[in-house]
Order: sequence, then structure tokens, then C-alpha cells
Amino acid sequence: MIKEKTSIPESYRIDSLIHQKTYLVNGELKPWEGAVTDVFSTISSTEKYEHTLLGSIPDLGEKEAMEALDGALGAYDQGKGVWPTMKVSDRIECMEKFVEQMKTKRDIVVKLLMWEIGKSLPDSIKEFDRTVDYIYDTIEDYKQLDRNSAKFQKHEGVYAHIRRGPLGVVLCLGPYNYPLNETFALLIPALIMGNTTIFKPAKHGVLLITPLLEAFKNSFPKGVVNILFGRGRTVAAPIMKTGKVDVLALIGNSKSANALQDQHPKSNRLRLVLGLEAKNPAIILPDANMELTIEECLTGTLSFNGQRCTALKIVYVHDEVKEDFLNEFAARVDKLKFGNPWDEGVKLTPLPEPGKPEYVQELIDDALAKGAKIMNKKGGKHFDNYIWPAVLYPVTKDMRVYQEEQFGPVIPVLSFKDIEEPLDDMAESNYGQQVSLFGKDVYALAPLIDTLANLVCRVNLNSSCQRGPDVYPFTGRKDSAQSTLSVHDALRSFSIRTLLAFKDNEINKDTVKQLLETKLSNFTSTEYIL
Ligand code: G3H
Repeated sequence: MIKEKTSIPESYRIDSLIHQKTYLVNGELKPWEGAVTDVFSTISSTEKYEHTLLGSIPDLGEKEAMEALDGALGAYDQGKGVWPTMKVSDRIECMEKFVEQMKTKRDIVVKLLMWEIGKSLPDSIKEFDRTVDYIYDTIEDYKQLDRNSAKFQKHEGVYAHIRRGPLGVVLCLGPYNYPLNETFALLIPALIMGNTTIFKPAKHGVLLITPLLEAFKNSFPKGVVNILFGRGRTVAAPIMKTGKVDVLALIGNSKSANALQDQHPKSNRLRLVLGLEAKNPAIILPDANMELTIEECLTGTLSFNGQRCTALKIVYVHDEVKEDFLNEFAARVDKLKFGNPWDEGVKLTPLPEPGKPEYVQELIDDALAKGAKIMNKKGGKHFDNYIWPAVLYPVTKDMRVYQEEQFGPVIPVLSFKDIEEPLDDMAESNYGQQVSLFGKDVYALAPLIDTLANLVCRVNLNSSCQRGPDVYPFTGRKDSAQSTLSVHDALRSFSIRTLLAFKDNEINKDTVKQLLETKLSNFTSTEYIL
């Protein structure tokens, strides 16, 4: 995309570079004078197309990774640390302090989201605001969780005070497509439940974390949040090898997740909270409302250029309606507006990975060689930092675009006569996150919903696939996920049930009464947080 500097609105221009010279370890922003990695945007700020330098980040190594691990281990202190034993209301206070400071960084984070990952202005704003809401909702849910456990129960002569406790040290790794929201959807619940954390931002969308370092440092006790920069292989792998990590929280690719899991020597100690890849299908039945279906399929396949784990990555359309669908859908794809993230009404935006247009081209070439055609006029057209979404039909199972999670702008379409065809494909697939089902006839829909609910974890009726609203469970079967994330479920995923139990006798009753009266134990408490 060629842009003159003057055509970029003043408030979105890159006037000064961010050279991040510190990293957060054990409560200290430690200065870094070693090697750095430049951070570029694929968006050009000059007339002649070139990548724009945004700044640089420290290229940290094993030594710094171990400092971060020591910081997190020290803060957890085998469960004796200030943070894991702190009163729930005090942990909430720290979180409130953090979110208040975070809110002051909205403009810079939104601007960096646009430059670093090419997310449109409305979507970047949405990502920031959604994350802030997620934090407040998490606080409210945690209060409710705490209220529910502010009691004792008695069965078979044994009293129990059951709460949820932290798991230990959490290594948090987020994806580039939601570098703020998805990462914080792991980090925030992990923290509030009393775990201590090491967090490494994604490869793209890393500078946007830097304005928040001070807030992390100011809001939490030392060592509770440690933030590293650098390559996953260099910093995350040695941390896992020690066997001292209790939870691997990762949203990204199953290959990276498997590689990191394999480094950990104690597989039973390691809990996994994973959001991985998916190949969510759209299934279009003959009686589907075509206008609604096309609208939802456009959003599903192409919002943020298809770079969403929840994106519709394969479309199955019934033979009877395939022509209507393909003609109209192809035309509508070509009407979408491509431009820079801040351009009014833009739907398609630059791809942050420099090699992505070539990768998508490879998928197209492979499909064409095996008999598919590009159904839309602009499909496959190259720009400096983009490739126009190609609607490919008919796609067959031997094509790469059928087998791989494209995570970008290309739309494979298959037609079917018998509904068993897409169902068999889904059952065979390594993925099982969500599906979009388009149709109206309840006699056809009912058995399908019953089957699909057992193949994936969310059946979207006449609606595109998506994670939100964040209060709903977000998970997947097979290679698509481990554990469940939602505001509520994440609090459970990052904690474990743990209880104080005692036999019913006078000594115990008296002792527990004193424990409650003196308020000496933060765990043993029937206080009701309002
Ligand atoms: O990349 C996967 C995200 O969880 C998708 O979230 O459906 O809200 O875009 P979303």
C-alpha cells in the first residue's frame, strides 16, 4: 500500500520510535544493553513502498529467562509468597490499580495495534476496550466465586471450607492476532487467582505491551509479573526445561505448544491452558437465507483478513444453492474496501507477516494446479503488503488449502449433496472448535445440531463463528484447545480446589471459631466481599 506521509492522519503517524531498553523482572525494570531486534510495520509511511521502522525490543537470552523464572518462583515462594496468600480483596485492589493505569494508555496501544498488526481502527479500539471490560468482568466474577466459598459445609461428620487456590508459576504466551486481548485473557485470570507469571509477548504486536510495563510494575508485588522479550525458542524453552513451570498458558499454534510441553520433564505437574488452531467450517443448507448467509460468511471468513482462530476457514455449500452463493459471495468479496487501518470503512488491511502474501499465493497455485478456480475477479491480486482474498472452488481434500489452517485471506469452498460429507470431514479433522450452520428447516437442523455439538464446542446458527461475548465458554476439541476460557471458566482453569477440612469435635470447632474471629488466616474466611 503506497501512502504519502501526509495522507496518514496526524494522530496516527509514527513521530517517535519506541526503543524498549528494559524488561520487567522481579519488580524491577532492568536495563538492557545487549542485542536488540528491530520492529517493522508492513505499512509504508512514505510514497515509495517500504516497511516502517517502529522501534526495537531487547533480544533476551537464557540468562534473562532464568531471572524471570527466579522472580516468579520467588514471588510464589512455594505457596508462602505474599501474592498467593494475600486476601482476595487485596489482590482485587492490585488488579483495579492496574486497570486504571492501563486505561490511560488507550491511544498509544490502539495506534500500535494498527501499525504492528494492521488491525483496523474500530477493531483496534474494540480490542482495547474489550480487554478492559474483560478485566472488570473478571474482578466481578472472582468476587462472586469468593462469596460462594465464604462458608462451611458438613458431610458425614466432617466440615469443609472449600475454596480455589493458585497452581503456581504460569508461563503465558499469546498470539499476534489479538496481542492484547488474548494474552490478557490468560494473564489476568492467572494473576487474580494468585499465580505468579512470566509473560512473553507475541512476535508481532510486541511494542504495544511496552506502555503497560510501568503499570504492571506499580500494581503488583515484585516477581508476580515478569515480562520478557525475544524469541520463544530462546527464552520459553529453557524455562520449560527446568520443570518448575506449573501451567503453560498459550494461545497460538499446536506445534509450538507441543514443542514446549515436550521440554517439561514432569508432565503431571504441568497444567495446560491452550487455545490452538482451527478450521471452522460453514455449512450452508439448501433453505438458508442467502442474504444473511453471505453477510455472515463475509464476516466469518474475512474479518481481520481471516487471521482469527475462530475464522471460517472452509465453506461447504449445498449443491442446489452453490451457484447463487458463489456468484453473490464472490462479487461481495470484491466490493470490500482495502486500505490502511485508519481509513474510513476499511475491511481488508495490510498483513503483518511479510511472507504471508507469498504463502497464500502458494495455497492458490496448489489449488489451481489440482482443479480449483478463482471465482472472484480480484482474487489473488497482489499489493505490496496484501493479497486479495481468492474464493476458490471446487476445493478437494488433496489441496493444501483444505488441509492447512490458512490464517489469512483465502476462502476454500466445497459443494456437497449429502450432509454426511461435511460431517465425515469434520469427524476426520484434527480440529474441533466451532461450526457455522446456515438453514431454517428445523427437521433438518435438529439432528445436525445434535451431532455437531459433539464434533465441536460451539454451533453457530445462521451466525459466523466467534469467541465472544467473553462470558461464553471458549474451547475446542482435539488439536484446537485444552481447558476452557471464559470470564468465569478461566478463573477455574488457573486454579485448583483446595479445602480446610476438620472432624466435628469441640476442639476443632473452637479452633476454627478462633481462626475466623482473629482473621489471621486469609484462606479461612467467611467474609463477604461486596
Ligand atoms: O484468534 C482467535 C480469537 O479467539 C478469536 O476471537 O472470535 O472474538 O475474533 P474473536
